[in-house]
Amino acid sequence: MAEFSLPANSKVVEGKTFPAPAGAARVKKFKVYRYDPDKNENPRMDTYEIDLDACGPMVLDALIKIKNEIDSTLTFRRSCREGVCGSCAMNVGGTNTLACINAISDFRGDIAVYPLPHMMVVKDLVPDLTNAYAQYASIQPWLQADTPAAPGKERLQSPEEREELDGLWECVLCFSCSTGCPSYWWNSDRYLGPATLLQAYRWIADSRDEYTGERLDALEDPFRLYRCHTIMNCTNTCPKNLNPGKAIARIKQKMVERR
Ligand code: SF4
Ligand code: FES
Repeated sequence: MAEFSLPANSKVVEGKTFPAPAGAARVKKFKVYRYDPDKNENPRMDTYEIDLDACGPMVLDALIKIKNEIDSTLTFRRSCREGVCGSCAMNVGGTNTLACINAISDFRGDIAVYPLPHMMVVKDLVPDLTNAYAQYASIQPWLQADTPAAPGKERLQSPEEREELDGLWECVLCFSCSTGCPSYWWNSDRYLGPATLLQAYRWIADSRDEYTGERLDALEDPFRLYRCHTIMNCTNTCPKNLNPGKAIARIKQKMVERR
């Protein structure tokens, strides 16, 4: 019989409950998705009862507390804990977001925590971002220019040219937007998704870059760009309040203008 490994989205079962310590006055339940590909078991939802009087204020604080004090097997990504590295992206309370910039107090009732949706799961809350990063690399996310910079000088921009990059440079590549997009769920092998397209536009919009035409050529494709159907889940979910839908619209506009 062929070896069988469970897909990440197979049936999720009820897991263990880790009760709050005796005497805890303010208890919050975190229901957390657990999946270990090395075990031939269904994913499960473990429940951790957290004493909020002994926990930091953010969702990430609760996950760190669980890992440090309750269950060291819980696996998740995090680094900066202030919304600038993008690594703690996950689905919290039904929304793709960054766990470190969401206050526990903003959620009513139990808090469900899942990995970013429609991705293969490496373990627990860690999605496999291999494809997403390869797509990001494919848009050549660096400044390209054949004209050399003036000796001893930086490549200058006017304040207006620099302003064109606002709303783009702040992206932390968390992929909350891409993994919230139905077009990306069904076509992530060929559609680049809102995160990568916002990054593509960041370089198209940069007055110092001289490869705009080549960048647009690379995106002129029924799938890479035009699988965006303006559903706008991307913009609704972005934890940095950016507008990937608008960036994609700007790319489409540039395509029309150059015809
Ligand atoms: S646009 Fe927003 S949601 Fe998308 S990758 Fe950038 S920061 Fe994350
Ligand atoms: S830990 Fe860096 S964005 Fe959350």
